[in-house]
Amino acid sequence: MSNTRKTYSYDDTTRLRTQGGLRVMSVYVYEAFLRWWHWLSALCIVVLGVTGYLIGKPLPTLSGEASAHFLMGYIRFVHFSAAYVFALGLLFRIYCALVGNAYAREILIVPVWDSQWWREFFFEVRWYLFLERYPRKYIGHNPAGQLAMLGFFVVAILMALSGFALYGEGLGHASWAWHGFGWMVTLAGGNSLALHSWHRLGMWAMALFVMVHIYTAVREDIMSRQSMISTMVSGYRMFKN
Ligand code: HEM
Ligand code: HEM
Repeated sequence: MSNTRKTYSYDDTTRLRTQGGLRVMSVYVYEAFLRWWHWLSALCIVVLGVTGYLIGKPLPTLSGEASAHFLMGYIRFVHFSAAYVFALGLLFRIYCALVGNAYAREILIVPVWDSQWWREFFFEVRWYLFLERYPRKYIGHNPAGQLAMLGFFVVAILMALSGFALYGEGLGHASWAWHGFGWMVTLAGGNSLALHSWHRLGMWAMALFVMVHIYTAVREDIMSRQSMISTMVSGYRMFKN
C-alpha cells in the first residue's frame, strides 16, 4: 500500500495553525457532495429501518372502518419514498467515487491484495480492542473503516435490488420495477417470502453497522487525536499532536 493516505502534504487543502500551544494541522478530506450524501443517507436508513420493521411486524389493527384510516399505507409510502431517495443517492455516490477526490474513491477500491494494507488492518483491529497504546492517523478512512464501508455499500446495493424486486411484485409484472429487478425473486428460489426475509435480514445487518459505526466514530473522535465527526460536517480532518 502506498503511504499517500498517511503522508501530510502541504498544499492549498492543508492548513497549519496553533491552538492552545499545540500545532494543529487540518486537511480537506470529504468534499461537500460526500458530506451531504452521508447525512441524507443516514436519515434515509433510519426512516427505512423503522418503516421496514413496521411493514414486517405491523402495528395492531386500528378500530373502526378500514376506510377511515390508512396507517400501513402511509408507512409503506414513507418506506418507498425514502427508498427512492436512498437508491438515487447510492447511484450518485458511485458516480462520485469515479470523479471525486482520492478519499471519495477509497470505499470502492479496497487494496485487499496488499500485505501492508492487511498489517495496518490488523493494527486497527488491535487498536479497537484496546490492545494498542497509540493510534495511527489517516487522512481518509483507516483500513478497518474502509472495509466496513465497502461492506455497507454491498449490503446497501443488495437492499436496493431486493427492495425494488418486492416493489415490482406490488406494482405488478408489467411494471418497470418487475422488469428491472424481478430476477431477484428468481434468485431467491422464486420465493417472495424468502426475499422478504433476506431484505429483513439486511435491515439487521445495517442496524449492526450503524451501531458499530457510531460507536467507533465517537471513540476515534475522543481517543485518536484526530477529528472524526466534525470532519463529516466541515470536510476538514484536524490532527493534534
Ligand atoms: C433501497 C431501496 C429499498 C426499496 C425499494 C425497498 C422496498 C421495500 C418493499 C417493496 C418492501 C415490501 C413492502 C410490502 O410487502 O408491503 C420492503 C419491506 C421492508 N424493507 Fe425495504 N426497501 C428498500 C430499502 C430498505 C432498507 C435500506 C431497509 C433497512 C434499513 C429496509 C427494510 C425493510 C424491511 C425490514 C421490510 C419488511 C420485510 C418483511 O419482513 O417482510 N428496506 N421494502
Ligand atoms: C444511519 C446512519 C449512518 C450510516 C448508514 C452511515 C454511513 C457511513 C458511510 C457509508 C460512510 C463512508 C462515507 C464515504 O466514504 O463515502 C460514513 C462515514 C462517516 N460517518 Fe457515518 N453513517 C451513519 C451515521 C453516522 C453518525 C450518526 C455519525 C456521527 C456520530 C457518523 C459519522 C461518520 C464519520 C465521522 C465518518 C467518516 C469516518 C472516517 O473518516 O473514516 N455517521 N458513514
